[in-house]
Amino acid sequence: MNALALNMSAMHFLQLDTLHFAYPNRGEVVRDVCLQLAPGEIHCLIGRSGCGKTTVLKLAAGLLTPQQGQVQLKGQTVQQPTADMGFVFQSPTLLDWLSVLDNVLLPLSLHGTVTDTHRAYGEQLLAHMGLAALCNDKPHRLSGGQQSRVAIARALITRPAVLFMDEPFAALDAITREELQRDFLALCQSNGTAVLFVTHDMVEAVYLADQVSLMHQGRLQAPLRIDLPRPRQSAMRYTPAFNALCEQLRHAMDATR
Ligand SMILES: Nc1ncnc2c1ncn2[C@@H]1O[C@H](COP(=O)(O)OP(=O)(O)OP(=O)(O)O)[C@@H](O)[C@H]1O
Ligand SMILES: [Mg+2]
Repeated sequence: MNALALNMSAMHFLQLDTLHFAYPNRGEVVRDVCLQLAPGEIHCLIGRSGCGKTTVLKLAAGLLTPQQGQVQLKGQTVQQPTADMGFVFQSPTLLDWLSVLDNVLLPLSLHGTVTDTHRAYGEQLLAHMGLAALCNDKPHRLSGGQQSRVAIARALITRPAVLFMDEPFAALDAITREELQRDFLALCQSNGTAVLFVTHDMVEAVYLADQVSLMHQGRLQAPLRIDLPRPRQSAMRYTPAFNALCEQLRHAMDATR
């Protein structure tokens, strides 16, 4: 866990408290789910397809309402998405008639006037993502990896306290994915952003997270703490400590077959 998260972990900044959820005419797909996220902490959810990861993310973000239990952000019950939240989904969903910069500024322009300060911050985020030269391009002229970077910048433009991410890098090649993971971590750390991150990829989970929870048939298992130092370096992926954590997750995942 990073220093900020350690200092404030007692606060339970985002808290999922014994959530139960069933879609209409379906059995329960989320059962008894509890999870705590501290400010600045990154928590990854992994698990087999259909186990309920996206549903938990939507419950945490107030996009779905649990039938039992509650979600609290900074002590307030979450009933709908708030300005404190940002989202990145698997597909970047950029608007092709807007420039890259205007796509990033969209969450602000939807709610009011965009100022020069906002534009400067948007450019700064894009520069952090290695896209300074593409601010005025249209999204269809960008690669898949570049589009994913724009979606991350767009999610961060409102300086959200917490980001919800649903397999945002799943469609990318391995190298692009590693570069994005590195740049994404650097941005979250400099902004103190907490993240709930869904992935199928155990290596990605260990690289990004302070804690990883395995989901199986709607239930969350006790989280695995990832005590690797920060900032995370790409070379860490080849260390025995890193591989031991991946192996531990692999065994836990195999046991859910
Ligand atoms: N809108 C919906 N209506 C009814 N059932 C749904 C709906 N969305 C998801 N489900 C069901 O709820 C269960 C959990 O779905 P969810 O999307 O949360 O899984 P997941 O772990 O994110 O899967 P994946 O890894 O494939 O994305 C699945 O059985 C799915 O069929
Ligand atoms: Mg999903």
